[in-house]
Amino acid sequence: MDQPAELLALAVSVARSAGDLANRMRAEGVDVAATKSTATDVVTAADRAVEQHVRDELHKARPDDAVLGEEYGGGQARSAVRWILDPIDGTVNYLYDLPQYAVSLAAEVDGVVVAGVVRNAATGREWTATLGGGAFCDGRRLRVSAETELGQALVGTGFGYAAERRLHQARVLAGLIGHIRDIRRLGAASLDLCLVAEGVLDAYYEKGLNPWDRAAGGLVAAEAGALVTGLDGNPPGLDMVIAAPPALHPRLHQLLSDLDASGGP
Ligand code: IPD
Ligand code: CA
Repeated sequence: MDQPAELLALAVSVARSAGDLANRMRAEGVDVAATKSTATDVVTAADRAVEQHVRDELHKARPDDAVLGEEYGGGQARSAVRWILDPIDGTVNYLYDLPQYAVSLAAEVDGVVVAGVVRNAATGREWTATLGGGAFCDGRRLRVSAETELGQALVGTGFGYAAERRLHQARVLAGLIGHIRDIRRLGAASLDLCLVAEGVLDAYYEKGLNPWDRAAGGLVAAEAGALVTGLDGNPPGLDMVIAAPPALHPRLHQLLSDLDASGGP
């Protein structure tokens, strides 16, 4: 039996050494190693080295588990556990030395995320959660914002890398921004979700998130009391992730649905 607390302890220790590696490589200077979906969707040598480090450490401790990682994809498990990894979430921030990038590592058992850690490698702040066990930041229990009016809500979001998708996302934002306090685009989805857990952002939404962007942060937000959903009855996924306190979620969801936020390219 894989206990969430045991999986979390391993995740935290691996995320810490992974964050240290990212920082050492950042200090030595960062170059783009390759591009992926578009010319601005970059991979650095650190993205790959950090992912390899995490894979090696997990394999040493739990050789039968599978790992799904952003840079090297997925593998076959001989156990019920699959790890979901973004070695550096916020790669563009990392490239520009903006201190908002994270190692995001979650453990799934039989397809359900049961433990997750998001570590801001630049600042050392660390958010953790286990399923049913609550969400914490540096030992402090987290609770979402108590805001009840969407017009007063500070809302995070992000944009994909492809121009056509960004244009659709900008049109959705143009329809939304008159109904909220303001918008923040901080550049790392996992950290955005953790900021919702803390109540530092009142809510967050984004289309186009992959499992590694949202697995750990989504659990942290949910365990802090956020509703983490997709649009129109769908679970959170590629089409949409909305994370908001129960008092804000219905109105935000309604606006995003009316604006066809999960549509477009
Ligand atoms: C990206 C960041 C960004 C979000 C994008 C993600 P990456 O991940 O989380 O905030 O808006 O959708 O792809 O490329 O930095 O790992
Ligand atoms: Ca990444």
